[in-house]
Amino acid sequence: MLNLSLAKTYKDYFKIGAAVTAKDLEGVHRDILLKHFNSLTPENAMKFENIHPEEQRYNFEEVARIKEFAIKNDMKLRGHTFVWHNQTPGWVFLDKNGEEASKELVIERLREHIKTLCERYKDVVYAWDVVNEAVEDKTEKLLRESNWRKIIGDDYIKIAFEIAREYAGDAKLFYNDYNNEMPYKLEKTYKVLKELLERGTPIDGIGIQAHWNIWDKNLVSNLKKAIEVYASLGLEIHITELDISVFEFEDKRTDLFEPTPEMLELQAKVYEDVFAVFREYKDVITSVTLWGISDRHTWKDNFPVKGRKDWPLLFDVNGKPKEALYRILRF
Ligand code: GLA
Repeated sequence: MLNLSLAKTYKDYFKIGAAVTAKDLEGVHRDILLKHFNSLTPENAMKFENIHPEEQRYNFEEVARIKEFAIKNDMKLRGHTFVWHNQTPGWVFLDKNGEEASKELVIERLREHIKTLCERYKDVVYAWDVVNEAVEDKTEKLLRESNWRKIIGDDYIKIAFEIAREYAGDAKLFYNDYNNEMPYKLEKTYKVLKELLERGTPIDGIGIQAHWNIWDKNLVSNLKKAIEVYASLGLEIHITELDISVFEFEDKRTDLFEPTPEMLELQAKVYEDVFAVFREYKDVITSVTLWGISDRHTWKDNFPVKGRKDWPLLFDVNGKPKEALYRILRF
């Protein structure tokens, strides 16, 4: 009964992506991907600790399967991610004596890493998340502490983008973060990006992760404001990790075994509303990626509450379309 395809419906607007593991290329998720999506982000497989676990060893296997699937089915990849405070192996920051590595050594390693990945995936990656989550959100400070920043200094962001620009060919270079549509973080992010751009840093776009929930009354107005602010810097915008939790972040309840009808209705409305905003700003938004395919598995199971299931995506636990999907297909 559902003949419409998400990717086809939005072909004149932006790419429609999903975060995937190699396992998603089989079964029900495969069918959904083939029908509805034209962009894939390896959910974990390109992260530093997975693809480059030891200095002399890369692990290309999972990405090879995702790349082959993408090329065969006329899809593109978003590369995720080079520089991040998480999921980066310890060796990157240590010298051969186990002491903290020098700035020069860490930059050299980063260059080798970025060069290897860019060259390997040049034919299929259209955008790279060069730096992920660098803006501090707990204190007044602008930049988050990390090994990258501690060793290289505040210029690590600029340096990472410059290295990426040397090797990334036609791929666009993105700065990606969460909560960056919220006023407190929008202001900081704007400052950081504006300053980087003024100093000639080759940043093409900003990734708004979009890990949202159905209860946030300010979402639409915050989002519009953020899009306008980032666009005023001349940046392209990708929605990079969209999911809409049925729980408010602070809500710790664990009594539900399925979403209530009210939750599903609210969720459908939020998807409907944010896609209306995405369409309104199609001149600056060039890609929208869901952080998963169906509620069968999502990183929101267990986060932020251990052992609790969540249902944040467009297809249910059996891979059947949810009301949210119908709402964004018919407008
Ligand atoms: C961040 C990262 C993603 C992923 C999510 C949780 O948003 O950018 O790669 O780890 O957290 O799945």
